[in-house]
Amino acid sequence: MSGLTVFYAILFYAATAMLVGGVGYRCWVYARTPQPLKIPLTPAPTTRRGVVLRMLAEVTVFKSLFKSSKWTWLFGWTFHVALLAVLLRHLRYFTEPVWAWVALIQPFGIYAGFAMLAGLAGLWARRFLVDRVRYISSPSDHLMLALLVAIAASGLAMKFVAHTDIVALKAFFLGLMAFSWQALPADPALLVHLALVAALMLSKLLHAPGVFFSPTLNQVDDPRERRHAAGWSAQLDTRAGAKGG
Ligand code: HEM
Repeated sequence: MSGLTVFYAILFYAATAMLVGGVGYRCWVYARTPQPLKIPLTPAPTTRRGVVLRMLAEVTVFKSLFKSSKWTWLFGWTFHVALLAVLLRHLRYFTEPVWAWVALIQPFGIYAGFAMLAGLAGLWARRFLVDRVRYISSPSDHLMLALLVAIAASGLAMKFVAHTDIVALKAFFLGLMAFSWQALPADPALLVHLALVAALMLSKLLHAPGVFFSPTLNQVDDPRERRHAAGWSAQLDTRAGAKGG
């Protein structure tokens, strides 16, 4: 077994462990952080069902982004939908036999690769062209965009310029999951693609679960109907209750 295979095998185990562990830990911290104040962004739903629908509209069509900036919405939404299609298409590298619906969406995945790049280009241009966005952009904002562009570009390079041995690649990943390591093809585009993917996994991309913990979006607008108690205020309530009022 080549040193390269061993290196990538360990890299992907480590990246997966850190992704699951890191994001899991963060979610645990977020879930335990009290929301001491009622601060739903109005107009806000007044029932839990309403909050579920609001969240659904947020994560599927980016509703509040649509209201605030049409251009950012267009590029941001395009990028995310394309990313989803690309990732679903990639399921065929990790499943045997390949599910019928994954086989069915294969052709769309290729267009999605280009759509993903177009979305990223728009989002990146915004960070240079819009003054107030350029002012608040940090190096890590640019780095994330560069990383995603490089992943998409190396993926498309494999598709259209320098093919890799997909059968061997699939054997490598199925082998990783079964703890029976198989050789990884040593094609430069694939090695670059995979190293960048591992970097993306290590960067954790917390904003995916993070949106669900945003108090302005996940709170019910019912402060007139129910008393809001969280963290220290809940403790005060218990103590007041113990004293009989
Ligand atoms: C371990 C995970 C991954 C593996 C094994 C992998 C492997 C591959 C392979 C073999 C191709 C070439 C497809 C072909 O020639 O038909 C490809 C293409 C591509 N990959 Fe990945 N990739 C992974 C993760 C990702 C991630 C996380 C992204 C996006 C953030 C991504 C984005 C792309 C894109 C945009 C393409 C070109 C379009 C397409 O073929 O779907 N890949 N990938």
